[in-house]
Amino acid sequence: MDVAPRNADMNDAATLVRLCSTDEVPEGGAVKVERDNLVVAVFNLGGRFFVTDDACTHGPGSLSEGDVDGEIVECNFHQGAFHIPSGRVEAPPCMVPLRTYAVHIVDGKVCIEAPGPAS
Ligand code: FES
Repeated sequence: MDVAPRNADMNDAATLVRLCSTDEVPEGGAVKVERDNLVVAVFNLGGRFFVTDDACTHGPGSLSEGDVDGEIVECNFHQGAFHIPSGRVEAPPCMVPLRTYAVHIVDGKVCIEAPGPAS
């Protein structure tokens, strides 16, 4: 009989999307991760991890390639800026807030809660 023990974390893991290892994200920087239908930026702010959509809400900028200063990321396309933890706009020409995701660190991996259907 080959019965795998049921892991107490399995239910939680089923609702999480693993993005990358924490040590893949440079401190004070970000990496772009494509997983399922998501393209997100994973930020490491002094050992705290945040995940936002990678696409700037203003245009074609990729925020994982932006400049991070404290909790602010400046888009490298037109220099609009966002507050990373909340996604709020910090500088024009951006006007629409950035989508953020609830982050969980599981076994050294940065994970987000699987987003529901777009509303
Ligand atoms: S594309 Fe990001 S500020 Fe314009």
